[in-house]
Amino acid sequence: MTRILTLETTCDETAAAVVTEELEVLGAVVASQHELHTRFGGVVPEIASRAHVERILPVIDETLQQAGVSLEDLDAVAVANQPGLAGSLLVGLMAAKSLCLACDLPLIAIDHLQAHIYACRLASGKDVFPCVGLIVSGGHSNIYRCETPLDFTALGGTIDDAAGEAFDKVASMLGLGYPGGPAIGKAAEQGNPTRFRLPRPLVSDSDRLEFSFSGLKTAVRYELFGTGRPAMGADAQLDTQLVADMAASFQEAVVDCLVSKAMLAMRKTGYQRLCIGGGVAANTRFRQQVEAAAAEAGYELHIPPLNLCTDNAVMGAIAVERFNAGQFESLDLDISAGLVR
Ligand code: KG4
Ligand code: ZN
Repeated sequence: MTRILTLETTCDETAAAVVTEELEVLGAVVASQHELHTRFGGVVPEIASRAHVERILPVIDETLQQAGVSLEDLDAVAVANQPGLAGSLLVGLMAAKSLCLACDLPLIAIDHLQAHIYACRLASGKDVFPCVGLIVSGGHSNIYRCETPLDFTALGGTIDDAAGEAFDKVASMLGLGYPGGPAIGKAAEQGNPTRFRLPRPLVSDSDRLEFSFSGLKTAVRYELFGTGRPAMGADAQLDTQLVADMAASFQEAVVDCLVSKAMLAMRKTGYQRLCIGGGVAANTRFRQQVEAAAAEAGYELHIPPLNLCTDNAVMGAIAVERFNAGQFESLDLDISAGLVR
């Protein structure tokens, strides 16, 4: 039986998993750092990389224990080496290379965004390719044509902020803490999504497969505090109902943008299958709306369960595809922090 150890340290989760050729998950651990970043309202790269250094070995140990395997039982080590925070990526890559060198194992590279889409393959238990892939995470909002698990072509993406980043920044303005997505989702449950009329950037442009969330974020700020220099977060005294209404109005605007561009990508490609991944795909309102839109158009839709939407190493099982295709890396492999299209 082929067993691959997968490592994930692209942002603020330190995660490892052992997966088999049959995509069985033998062990999986995620150590979140959210508590370290909460008071800053977002991920602090230097803190994230230091925390990865402290956690990576215990996380690997615990994963192997869970899987009931030792290092000698492994057939390869795979690591997400792009895209992400440079310092964070380096910790995972160095850990993977060290294991490969010490145990004479082949090294496999994982593209973190492709892995987010592959989570749909794992969750559905069946082949989901070809498909349109939409990734909505803290760092990325991208649309891909995914021919096979190893062949992705970028169709579009955000021209400024990622959707998750906008959730996090607006949550910070509303004093809701980090990570902002779940907090906004919860506050929005009590809110009126029509109280604030917020823009839906680029939605009316039916040619462009692009997102823009920066102006939406600014629109929220102006609604809340005017155009001057505002008190924000914990300093701002915002009424609970206003916070709920703004959370709901903002969430609705982001969801409208995501759903409309996902449907545009489906029409443009002529594909019938849509796979969605990334932390924002955990948003309840987004799931409802994209499900409704896909059902109306007759598209097959895949969104993983919540624990496979946010960062994890199980989705690194895409490494099995590379293993089977003989796509291994030399120990010169580097990180690539930015998006490689
Ligand atoms: O994919 P992910 O775990 O990490 C990155 O690769 O960036 O995504 C994290 C992002 C954060 O911005 C977080 O606020 C957002 O996903 N998120 C959500 C929800 N859960 C996490 N956004 C909206 N609603 C949620 N329920
Ligand atoms: Zn991610």
